[in-house]
Amino acid sequence: MDALRSARASLNDALLSTEDRRVIEPIVAAIDQALQGRPATHNENGSEALDSRELEVEAARREVERAKVLSAREWGLLDAVLNHSPHGILVCNAAGKMMLQNRAAERIWAGSATVEGVGDWGKYRAYHPDGRAFEPDDWSMTRCLRAGEVTDAEEVRIQRFDGTHGMILGSCAPLFDISGELLGAVSIFADISQFKRAETERERLLRVAQEAVRMREDLLAIVSHDLRSPLSVIAMAAGHIRKAVEPRELERIDSAAKKIERAARSMEKLIRDLLDTASKDAGRLIAEITSHPVDEIIYDALEMHVPLANEADIKLEAEIAEPGMSIRCDRERVLQCLANLLGNALKFTPRGGAIGLQVHPVGDTIEFAVRDSGEGIAPEQLPRVFDRYWQAKRGSRAGAGLGLFIAKSIVEGHGGEIRAESEIGRGTRFSFALARA
Ligand SMILES: Nc1ncnc2c1ncn2[C@@H]1O[C@H](COP(=O)(O)OP(=O)(O)OP(=O)(O)O)[C@@H](O)[C@H]1O
Ligand SMILES: [Mg+2]
Repeated sequence: MDALRSARASLNDALLSTEDRRVIEPIVAAIDQALQGRPATHNENGSEALDSRELEVEAARREVERAKVLSAREWGLLDAVLNHSPHGILVCNAAGKMMLQNRAAERIWAGSATVEGVGDWGKYRAYHPDGRAFEPDDWSMTRCLRAGEVTDAEEVRIQRFDGTHGMILGSCAPLFDISGELLGAVSIFADISQFKRAETERERLLRVAQEAVRMREDLLAIVSHDLRSPLSVIAMAAGHIRKAVEPRELERIDSAAKKIERAARSMEKLIRDLLDTASKDAGRLIAEITSHPVDEIIYDALEMHVPLANEADIKLEAEIAEPGMSIRCDRERVLQCLANLLGNALKFTPRGGAIGLQVHPVGDTIEFAVRDSGEGIAPEQLPRVFDRYWQAKRGSRAGAGLGLFIAKSIVEGHGGEIRAESEIGRGTRFSFALARA
């Protein structure tokens, strides 16, 4: 009788599925009947014999023992599978109470928390991609219990119990018994922190490589673009030399030769910078910022453009507010910037027009302005003129739409800002300021 009582108690204590319960319940009922007591019968020999009911109960008891052994074996197997799985596994019941978690889950989270219901899932801390912290309702486990949602391969950034951060890739599904009743939910997740770190590093390296390629392309475009100005001066000066064959023209030959020399030096410097920068992998345009007299810069800028202006029948004049001013800059780059502004002014001003290069002090800076009496730029187009490859009339005049982008990069490289003001039909003014030396 004691054995029966203990078998019954074990049955009641066991965590059984609905299906198990259906099998076990008749056995429990039989045990109860036996425990209530039935008179023993005697056989023909007068000895006490077990009646058929007790035989049934005895058989049931053996069945229960066998089921317990089997169940212990199955649990052993299940336990081995769970705890040797490299992936974390969490199981909760229909109320969100955590019923089971394997070793990998504890390892991935660097600890664990007691979860008595859905509200306790907040003890497991995680973050959305935008940095918001997870609410208990955000967990796939809760979504699964509330709405039957099945989650497949969801990436979540977690904060482990030791305070460190990591990434998991998790799936979650509801658990039903054979009658379709919701028993709970299971979540299976892998630690992908290392993989994510490698991916982030790969993306960073790719960005660095792309940026390096882009810088090199920019540099090539910029240098080849800006080689055109000194080249046109060379071409024109060479033309003058060819025409000046008379000995009395020696002065003109000498002047043209000097121009050719300077323009060639300017081209040579651009090419040297291109090669230097390419070899440094850095695309830096501003090389050396030192003090330079404004007069010299303006003289050089004019020297390159006055012949072009004369050729186009445009008046080009400079106006320097104060003599003896100096600025802190990379001289070649500022000349490059002025060459782009003057080149545009020449290109967009009709014959008979005028261009002014004005320089005057503003606070502790010196402002340079290139003003023309050309066709002007429509107000809605003005903000776009500094965009790379932008042109008001694409392809209408020779050019790439790079000049103002380059000018802006140079001014910004000096810590300044370039501005454009314009009125259709009346002309345009580009200005920028550089630090006074
Ligand atoms: N002074 C100006 N007057 C009128 N429009 C201008 C002037 N400067 C620039 N623009 C407009 O801005 C556009 C962009 O100028 P940007 O110097 O960047 O390129 P581009 O002169 O067309 O070509 P590139 O300078 O590469 O030879 C020009 O195509 C033109 O539409
Ligand atoms: Mg231009």
